[in-house]
Amino acid sequence: MCGKGGVGKTSISALMVKILSESNGRRILAIDADPAVGLATSLGISVRKTVDDIRKDLIKKIQTGDAPGNRQTLELLDYEVFNALEERDGYALLAIGRPEDEGCFCKVNNLLKDIIRDLAGKFDIVLIDGEAGIEQINRRVMKTVDHLVLVSDTSAKGIGVANTIALVASDKKAVDFKHMGLVLNRVRNEAEAHDISTRTNLEIYGWLCDDEAIRDFDFRGAPLTSMPENSPNLSTVLDILKKMDLIA
Ligand SMILES: Nc1ncnc2c1ncn2[C@@H]1O[C@H](COP(=O)(O)OP(=O)(O)O)[C@@H](O)[C@H]1O
Ligand SMILES: [Mg+2]
Repeated sequence: MCGKGGVGKTSISALMVKILSESNGRRILAIDADPAVGLATSLGISVRKTVDDIRKDLIKKIQTGDAPGNRQTLELLDYEVFNALEERDGYALLAIGRPEDEGCFCKVNNLLKDIIRDLAGKFDIVLIDGEAGIEQINRRVMKTVDHLVLVSDTSAKGIGVANTIALVASDKKAVDFKHMGLVLNRVRNEAEAHDISTRTNLEIYGWLCDDEAIRDFDFRGAPLTSMPENSPNLSTVLDILKKMDLIA
């Protein structure tokens, strides 16, 4: 999930996790790749440890000469990442925390990337709630994805960021994706959704309406996973997941 800050990536991710985790027993991994760990909050999880915490611990050990040998380092990181997984009913969550500093401790960063990739391979569906903007595309946090989901509200700025991410992702081959689509959020009516469809070449996966319930849940800090089943946006997200072929 990519897009401008505040457009609804995290809210929509949480609703997706809710629906996917309640459907036919597949293993779901949610990755919270926003340093502000918003997805964890929206899922009602308080994160014990982020990947960044693990990285910092190891770097400290390296700096004080306490680091184990190469093999043990890999085993340690593997264990630590597994330990940082928050396992819940029907899904697991991994929080990345702050992204790595460019350039330094490449080896640790690459090991962690490999471990996360291996871990992701053990799940049927991996959903990444991305950091705002296009930086992560440039940083190649996620090298291959099936669906690059761009999220935007109805603002020209939001659509502009989505269009730019789409361009960067396609042109520079920054992300290897099979499908790309736009999810519109906080739409007032069908006419508004139609109007926006004329301002982008992106396929529109679906649109969610401006929803007092989401606002209220966030206002109270209540997890979006407890949204009532009859909430209209929940069925919209279900339709989006069907369109993405993630639900039959
Ligand atoms: N469909 C919606 N209706 C009403 N409020 C929404 C909706 N989607 C998101 N919000 C609100 O907008 C704010 C930003 O949403 P969030 O999902 O955190 O965006 P992002 O992850 O893209 O930064 C939150 O306070 C959330 O409650
Ligand atoms: Mg967010």
